[in-house]
Amino acid sequence: MSKDIGVDSAAIFPDEAYAPAKRAAIRMGVIGYGYWGPNIVRNFHSQEGSQVVAVCDRRPKELGRVRHSYPGMVVTSEYRELLAATDIDAVAVVTPVWTHYELAKAALENGKHVFVEKPFTCTSAQAEELIELAERRKLKIMVDHTFLFTGAVRRIHELINHGTLGKLYYYDSTRVNLGLLQHDVNVVWDLAPHDLSIMNYLIQEKPQAVVATGEQHLNGLVDIAFLTIYYPNNVIGHVNVNWLSPVKVRTTLIGGEKKMLVWNDLEADEKIKIYDKGVAINSGESRYQTLVSYRTGDMWAPRVEQVEALQIEAAYFVDCILNDKTPFNDGIAGLNVVRMLEAADQSLRQKGKIVQL
Ligand SMILES: NC(=O)c1ccc[n+]([C@@H]2O[C@H](COP(=O)([O-])OP(=O)(O)OC[C@H]3O[C@@H](n4cnc5c(N)ncnc54)[C@H](O)[C@@H]3O)[C@@H](O)[C@H]2O)c1
Repeated sequence: MSKDIGVDSAAIFPDEAYAPAKRAAIRMGVIGYGYWGPNIVRNFHSQEGSQVVAVCDRRPKELGRVRHSYPGMVVTSEYRELLAATDIDAVAVVTPVWTHYELAKAALENGKHVFVEKPFTCTSAQAEELIELAERRKLKIMVDHTFLFTGAVRRIHELINHGTLGKLYYYDSTRVNLGLLQHDVNVVWDLAPHDLSIMNYLIQEKPQAVVATGEQHLNGLVDIAFLTIYYPNNVIGHVNVNWLSPVKVRTTLIGGEKKMLVWNDLEADEKIKIYDKGVAINSGESRYQTLVSYRTGDMWAPRVEQVEALQIEAAYFVDCILNDKTPFNDGIAGLNVVRMLEAADQSLRQKGKIVQL
């Protein structure tokens, strides 16, 4: 039998109520059980070190789904009840972006570590305030940039760190599909956070400027956009995001001086292909003596681990709390992405004006 949280209950399990088989180190509450929330609940609940003890959603239908999948789990439609529970250590905020700030702030004020969906907040000022609050309260913030935990991105990160690609030239991603049109954010805030977080993680430099162009056609929100991001040392990033594409494409090209790679995330096997291709210029004394040589060597597909990204990320969140580590996808990483999104919006409004970060 599921049990709603009583307003007077400080602890989620005050008496003989729902007693789970395990008592994990980190007890989680999850706010938001729409499209993405069930993945968060499933992954935190199946971890060795964590268990989900309560789920909150405003919509009774979603709470019905929780009851069906997890008979006996505590449910509530009022997030303040969940935050008041003294036996919850951390809260996942899996609601629309315009609610992240209010919910994450309330969670931190109630002494909970927070796992917040991407994009972290609607504005960089909100993100800065949450980071400061978490620091003051000695609490962790992790922003769910899920792609950073995929086998593909972890492998590409490894290849770059080992110098396999050589000096980086560019990151060029196409992330397009038909829908799902959002009603609260444009296509940039919906799809680009994935690439912006991946770029920042792989390039390991602070982006310097953003240029964005795009257009709106249907519901008053930009539904197709092209972003260019300038990084130090001539590294350039480009992202094509589109809700009006007839086909789904998830393909990224990453070019380096020594090797280039293609990452097709829709491939079941061989998601990453590394090409031993490149161009070298040997300049002579005059421009007429410039020699261009093209290298076209082998192609190979490295092994990519197939474990669900959220499973690894959930374990990492627990580890960061238990061992007092700062996650690499912390509030600051989330803030950096929000700054780039704000700059993209500003550039979009000015038809592609360059915006310094
Ligand atoms: N990391 C990823 O790959 C990924 C994928 C999809 C969505 N997301 C993110 O997850 C978040 C949620 O997206 P979604 O697609 O699941 O949205 P959704 O609209 O399907 O679900 C959100 C749920 O939150 C509930 N909710 C809203 N405000 C609430 C409140 N104050 N208290 C309690 N419940 C509340 C709604 O009733 C709804 O059921 C967004 O920030 C989105 O960007 C991330």
